[in-house]
Amino acid sequence: MTPTPLRSIASKLPAGMLYGGDYNPEQWPEAVWSEDVRLMREAGVNLVSVAIFSWAKLEPRPGDYDFGWLDRVIDLLWTEKISVCLATATASPPAWLSRAHPESLPVDVNGTRLSPGSRQHYCPNSRAYRAGGRRLIGELARRYAAHPAVALWHVNNEIGCHTHECFCEVCAADFRTWLRARYDTLEELNESWGTAFWSQAYGEWAEILPPRKMPTFRNPGQVLDYARFMSDALCDLLAGEVAAIRLVAPEAKVTTNGMVFHRPADYHRWYREVDIAAWDSYPDPAGGIDEVQAAAFTHDLFRGLRGGQPFMLMEQATTQVNWRATNALKPPGQMRAISFAAVARGADAVMFFQWRAARAGAEKFHSAMVPHFGTEGSRVFREVCALGAELKKLTGVCGARVPARVALLVSWENRWALEVESKPMAFDYAAMIRSYYGALWDLNVAVDVVHPDAPLEAYAVVVAPALYQLTRGQAESLRAFAQRGGALVMSYFSGVVDEREHIWLGGSPGLLQDVLGLAVEEWQPLPAGESNALVVAGRTEPVACKIFCELLHLRGAEALATYAHGFFAGRAAITTHRFGAGEAIYVATEPDRTWLTTLMSDVLERHGVKAPVVAAPGVEAVVRVGEGMEFLFLINHRAELAMVELGEWSGRDLVSDQACTGTLSLEPYGVRVISRARDREVSAVPRLPQASAV
Ligand code: GLA
Ligand code: ZN
Repeated sequence: MTPTPLRSIASKLPAGMLYGGDYNPEQWPEAVWSEDVRLMREAGVNLVSVAIFSWAKLEPRPGDYDFGWLDRVIDLLWTEKISVCLATATASPPAWLSRAHPESLPVDVNGTRLSPGSRQHYCPNSRAYRAGGRRLIGELARRYAAHPAVALWHVNNEIGCHTHECFCEVCAADFRTWLRARYDTLEELNESWGTAFWSQAYGEWAEILPPRKMPTFRNPGQVLDYARFMSDALCDLLAGEVAAIRLVAPEAKVTTNGMVFHRPADYHRWYREVDIAAWDSYPDPAGGIDEVQAAAFTHDLFRGLRGGQPFMLMEQATTQVNWRATNALKPPGQMRAISFAAVARGADAVMFFQWRAARAGAEKFHSAMVPHFGTEGSRVFREVCALGAELKKLTGVCGARVPARVALLVSWENRWALEVESKPMAFDYAAMIRSYYGALWDLNVAVDVVHPDAPLEAYAVVVAPALYQLTRGQAESLRAFAQRGGALVMSYFSGVVDEREHIWLGGSPGLLQDVLGLAVEEWQPLPAGESNALVVAGRTEPVACKIFCELLHLRGAEALATYAHGFFAGRAAITTHRFGAGEAIYVATEPDRTWLTTLMSDVLERHGVKAPVVAAPGVEAVVRVGEGMEFLFLINHRAELAMVELGEWSGRDLVSDQACTGTLSLEPYGVRVISRARDREVSAVPRLPQASAV
């Protein structure tokens, strides 16, 4: 595994960890800018994202550009060698554009056209919005691409965050075009959508509409295809902006900031269009370990989007956000711990929204690197400066990889299908994934979050939670994986349908029945608060299970646990099946998390996967591997002391410059980055996705 510093991808980026945030100088008089730049130096900032919401300021009237202020900002930043991640400035179209082109405003599922005056008020397919954006991008690229400060391009902003779908006439026509490319004939579409049901058959393409508000359940095939189409449309918007930059500056390097496991956006596809993966992380500081794990999952997901390359933490809050019902602050040390947790999982950039807290507007109560209070005596600014100084010590970590022997299979396709209405229950895919991810996090075992189509050769254990939509190719790949000696862990409601939302007949998990050695005939969804229990071989106490209980017919699998109650009593709930040189474990319900962790721990042990160290609960331990060096990140996410047994790990902590060996006591929110020389090679070389033709 070759280390890949971000500089080897975008050579104009500064050396070392990237540190900074969104910088919105247009919100402030010019007199403030010089103070900004001075304070940035003090904080150790080396990169800022500029002009994200500047369209109206850059083009106050159609075709009438004003770049003078941006020239001065970028030049000023460069006097202190602060680099710029320059935005395409398309995130919020100006008022004149919405007025001249009311059809560019998005239409919701009920047919209501949304108003301007907020942000992201555009139909993703709007020709006027796209053309206006591309014109502006051309001007920006001509003027700034060669500027030594402009190291990277920030395409749009959180595309699809607020406006992730539109049901206007333009989208309706584009949907029909998209469908004609997907289905050769109308008969094929009718067959795929199952339109024989409820007299839904289409006789002409023109009859097909977006799935707007309907009297009752919408056609699942239509809803699924619309999710695919909208994700593609938003991705096409992204690709169009990238193309507009590269038309002028073919060598320009680009990124765009994604969000969590954002439902509408198939990032596996989107991030082929850019050079670097980036995301905005806002765990609730009051949410405890669950929130820490959700952020860790997304770090692993984004690392996987570009074949394991380092990614950018493009935004986070220094302390509070403004958009939850109650916005908790981050107590001293927590922002640092959360930042190191991102770096541990492959981030080579720690950036914030935003540099200076806004004085006016909807986000004036969102925290920033420079608070309203000022910097003098500020706790927040002190922590910002301290973090900047500490990240400088991690230059050697840049580019290092995060090797993992466990893969967690996740896809947007599967999520869209699973979450289409009219199911045995309303499934929450992200929560189903997080049970397994959480167990692995608790065990401090590194995980690659990968698409179910990804090659699996590098892994010893593959976890497939609720792989509801199963394609022939995926079934073949999982079969081959188990055959070769891998351990497959699959959870309930897997292998139920194909990619058209058609049931695999004969019982789930469909094409994988022989691999798991079982077939599912029935299931019982349990309302919140209700549970069954598991009788586990070799354990006296039953284990609670909830959410969903499937009834299995065993065809070769052995029961590891059976149900305790109802007519399910005595029937298998957790099974294992030897298949080829490997094994396939099926979990037909949602067991209590502590026990699930035990189950996963047994599987990992059988297949030779270990944590790097033994640590107290709430301590995250992750290894990054660089050129001849490896780094053990330890992060205590709790506000109490925590012990870590370093075992065979000993070395120098890059943060404190102290030697570490034996038993370590981590202070509340404490972090260590223990480095040591490495002689062994890491074998896994994940494949990098290729950009699609634009
Ligand atoms: C998102 C946006 C930013 C800002 C922050 C606030 O991440 O990209 O512009 O609105 O949220 O948390
Ligand atoms: Zn539209």
